[in-house]
Formats: sequence, structure tokens, C-alpha cells
Amino acid sequence: MTMMSGKTCLVTGATSGIGQETAARLAGLDATVIVVARNQARGTAACEEIRRRVPDAQVEALTADLSVMAQVRRLAEEVQARHERLDVLVNNAGVISTRRRTTADGFETTFATNHLSPFLLTGLLRGLLERSAPARVVTVSSAAHKSVRAIPWDDLPTGAGAASGQTYPLSKLLNILFTTELARRLEGAGVTANCLHPGFIRTALGRDVTGLMGALVRVALRFQPGPETGAETSVYLASSPDVAEVTGGYFVKCRLTEPSALARDAQAAARLWTLSQECAGLAPAP
Ligand SMILES: NC(=O)c1ccc[n+]([C@@H]2O[C@H](COP(=O)([O-])OP(=O)(O)OC[C@H]3O[C@@H](n4cnc5c(N)ncnc54)[C@H](OP(=O)(O)O)[C@@H]3O)[C@@H](O)[C@H]2O)c1
Repeated sequence: MTMMSGKTCLVTGATSGIGQETAARLAGLDATVIVVARNQARGTAACEEIRRRVPDAQVEALTADLSVMAQVRRLAEEVQARHERLDVLVNNAGVISTRRRTTADGFETTFATNHLSPFLLTGLLRGLLERSAPARVVTVSSAAHKSVRAIPWDDLPTGAGAASGQTYPLSKLLNILFTTELARRLEGAGVTANCLHPGFIRTALGRDVTGLMGALVRVALRFQPGPETGAETSVYLASSPDVAEVTGGYFVKCRLTEPSALARDAQAAARLWTLSQECAGLAPAP
């Protein structure tokens, strides 16, 4: 028996880097783990890797391209059909790209994958989380959010006017605003919501960053610690009794830390919630 026995955790982006390490560590703590993968082959490989590390792991893969909202909806339906409880939702999947790309829904890909997808998935699974209370939502943000000086509200969904390299820090700022507003809305429901910066970690994250910036990112990442270090704060927020009652926080190295002034703007958080509901087609909830 460990502190995660009997608990079910879902980790998005669990096929690589920090997410894969997080999923393996939670499986090692005896949780049932749902890994979300882009496709079946990557999901099977992730489960095999986790079972190699934790032979008696209870792990299964569900698939979704998280940049596509219909697939996020199908994923949420599948989770609810297959599982009676969800104790921890780790919104970890993320992309960074210097090329402007648009999803089938017409959203800028980084906005859709890094922000709208966790917003919608959390909203759709909220009832299951509340029925499993005490439960936790953990969202992987980044210290990169600090470089954002203003939120281009009208441009957010399509990123049409965004400069190359701007969409990623912006999406990570949105992760923090989403978390604070979610925590406020979940008050009294027995579900906490926290977010984190995992550190600068050697993963595949920079693979879609092109040109000189891409080369610099890849060289810099080579000298950074690996996913074992990057997963520390996610696993802490998902499992530690120390933070059972803590909500609405931004954590770095397992410590509550103050994010940028913009990330603490409650009006911006409320405005983002309304915009995200409209974009995701999610019915208003309390
Ligand atoms: N590494 C760092 O230094 C660092 C710093 C700050 C924050 N972060 C954050 O940490 C989180 C994890 O990143 P990482 O560094 O571990 O990078 P990574 O190794 O590239 O992992 C990203 C994961 O997200 C998945 N993913 C991306 N787009 C997806 C989509 N459309 N549908 C389904 N899955 C998708 C990837 O799946 P595929 O493998 O199939 O692409 C992969 O499993 C991200 O949110 C990132 O912003 C990382």
C-alpha cells in the first residue's frame, strides 16, 4: 500500500519527456494510470516502458490528438465510460513551434494544444473529479510565461498577428490564469488546482523550433537535467499530503512561487475563462 493505492491518475503527453516520467512515477506509487497518447502505437510503447520500470503497473493508454477539440471530447467520454473515478488529472502535453500552424478547428496550434485542450478536458471531467473528491488538477506551465508583457485578446484563438516564438510563452501564461480561475470555481468542491514550472529540462520539446533559435534551444537543453528532475514537482502536486489542501498555486521545485504580475491578474483570468468557453463550446458551469 502506498499513498496512491486505489487512486486513478490521467497524464496527457505521457509518451515522452516529463509526462512519461510522471506517469511512471505515479504507477510506481501504485496508482492506476491512464496515459494519453497521440496514437495507439505511441500509447502502447509508453505502457510497455512503464511496465518495464514498474512490472506490476496498472496502466492503460487512451488516444487523442489534443489539438483537435472533437478528439478531446471523445477522450473525456472514453475516460468516463471506462473509469468510475479520477483522482488526479495531469495536464502535461505541450508543444512549442516557431512555425505558425492552425488546427482543423481553425485555432492556432499552440493555443489549442497547450491551453484550450486542458481547459476543455478539465471542464468535461470536472464532474468525475468532484465525485472522486478529494481530487487534484495539475497543469504544467513554464517560467517562460514571464516574457509576456500583454495578452493579445482578439488575436488569441487564431494567433494571426503573433510573432514567431510568442505563442508558447503566452500559452504558458494562460495555464496559470486558467489554474487560478479553476481553483476559485472549485472552492468547496474538494478538488484542488495547481500549476508548475518543471525547470529547464532535457526533453524532445524543442524539436519543432527551427532556425538559429532551434539550434540554440537544442544545445542549451543538452546541458539541462533530464525528465527525472522535470517530473518532481508534477508528482509532488499529484501525490504529496503536504499540498492536499493547497489550491490556485504556481510551484517551482516543489515550492509555492509567485508568477508574473500578469499571471496574477484576476480580471484576466475571468476574461480568459469566458473566451475559452466560447472557443471550446463548453456550457457555462458555476
Ligand atoms: N522541457 C522543458 O524545459 C520545459 C520547461 C517548461 C515547461 N515545460 C512543459 O512541460 C510539458 C511537457 O513537455 P516535455 O518537455 O516533456 O516535452 P516532450 O518530451 O516534447 O513531451 C510533450 C508531450 O506532449 C505530447 N503532445 C504534444 N502535442 C500533442 C497533441 N496534439 N496530442 C497529443 N499529445 C501531444 C507529446 O506527444 P508526442 O510525443 O506524440 O509528440 C509528448 O508526449 C509541456 O507542457 C511543456 O510546455 C517543459
